Order: sequence, then C-alpha cells, then structure tokens
Amino acid sequence: MSTQSAGGTSSSRPTVTLSTLQKMKKRQEKFTCLTAYDACFGQLLSEAGVDVILIGDSLGMVLQGHDSTLPVTMEDMIYHISCVKRGNRGSFLIGDMPFMSYASETQTLENAARLMRAGAQMIKLEGGAWIAHSTNLLAERGIPVCAHMGLTPQSINRIGGYHVQGRDPRQAESMLTEARLLEEAGASILLLECVPQTLARTISEALEIPVIGIGAGPATDGQVMVLHDVLGISPITPKFVKNFLRDSNAGIRGALQDYVAAVKSQQFPAPEHCFD
Ligand code: KIV
Repeated sequence: MSTQSAGGTSSSRPTVTLSTLQKMKKRQEKFTCLTAYDACFGQLLSEAGVDVILIGDSLGMVLQGHDSTLPVTMEDMIYHISCVKRGNRGSFLIGDMPFMSYASETQTLENAARLMRAGAQMIKLEGGAWIAHSTNLLAERGIPVCAHMGLTPQSINRIGGYHVQGRDPRQAESMLTEARLLEEAGASILLLECVPQTLARTISEALEIPVIGIGAGPATDGQVMVLHDVLGISPITPKFVKNFLRDSNAGIRGALQDYVAAVKSQQFPAPEHCFD
C-alpha cells in the first residue's frame, strides 16, 4: 500500500482510502472519524491516526457561532476543505454538501465537483430515500457518497429539535428500508446520527457498506465526533459526547490518540453515551 499522503507528503501511516474502510468493515475492525476545519487540526488528526476527517457543516455552529448549520455556504465549505487538505497526512477526507446545495440535479453535480476539486475524496448528503437519485448520479460519475440519515441537522426546522430518530417501530422500519435503498443507489458509506443503538446495529449488519455512527451506539463500523466536543470546548454536551481532553496527560495530541484508541478497543462509546 502506498505511503503517499493525500496532501502529497510521505508519512509512516498508509494512506486511508475507501477500500481501506471496506476492508476494515470485513475484518470487523472499528474505524475513527473526527471533524476538522483547518490545516493545523487536519495534520494533528491524521498524525494521531484518525482514519477519516469530516469537514462538516457543523462548522456553522462551532466556528461561525450560528444556532444551526443552515447558513453555511458552498464558499465556506470549499475554503475549509482546502485548508484541511493542506494539513492532511493520509486520512480520508469527506466534505459536507451544505444546505440547499443539492436541491436539483445540476446543482448537485456542479457543487459536488467543486468540493472534490477543493480536496474532498467523498461528499456527504443528508436525507433518506429522496437523496437516492442524487447519490446514483454522483456515484455513476465517480464521486463517492456518504449518505447521512437519522438526525439530519439541515432539516432541523422540519424535525423540530435535535431529538433521537427511529424510536418509533414504523420509523425504524422505514429507516432500514431507506438505508438499503441508498446502498443500492450507490452510497459508499452511511452515517447514522442519534438513533437507538439496536436500530444502528440492525442497519450496520444489514448493509455491505461501512456504517459510521454518532450517538448511534457501539455496533456501527466506525465512530464520528465533532472535534470541539472531543476537546470539551462546545457550549453544550449531548449525552453521546465524551471530553477526551479532560483525562489526557499529553494535551490535544494525547486526547486525539486516546479517542482513536478508545474507538478501536471498543471502549467508546460506553453505555452512558448510547440511546435505547
Ligand atoms: O457536520 C458535521 O460535523 C456532521 C457530524 C455531526 C456527523 O455531520
């Protein structure tokens, strides 16, 4: 396997690709993901062994101070993806398509291409069955898609709050059906946010593609967290968050390495971080 990093600099760690993540799922080896928005943290995360870096539209809340992700623009995403790309040393980079940037076919294709040119290696779309067509369009054109289901913050005004999704058996059933549909449409990764741990387990076992979770319990193939939550500097601390900096003996680098070790050894998430 090549040791050339995505940023073009050699590193001791093999570059993580989509096929690395697929193999990890087959071997039942957990993979790690954290958000980053700049070059410095992009480098720190990849040097700490974080497999996947998500340049998430959560930047609208943690960097820009908005109360939702809705104000984030394509220009914001391009800027932050290109910053992280410059710092990255071999992690796999996923870039978020911001609110209303994939509302039509033309918009979806043009905007996804802009994020890939900025340095994303996969793009993330929020939604269920309704994003199957866009997922298929992108996948057929060589753009890998991460489909984000469960709590989808871009739909916060329709959902009505940051609540767990899929507790109702009918909703759980339709989430499983939609997850299968997205896999068939060509999604390469599924991300589940704030869903009961049993539902996340069922979906992870039903799909061939890697499933990554946040607030979705220990059974998903990978775990993702917002960087500011892991460092304990977010103004609110949801149940599924753990502050890894508090117990770190080695500052931020140590906290990031502890997060990686805790996910790989399946010590995180613990029962107190999960929803039933
Ligand atoms: O935007 C983001 O950071 C995300 C994570 C919360 C998964 O989508």
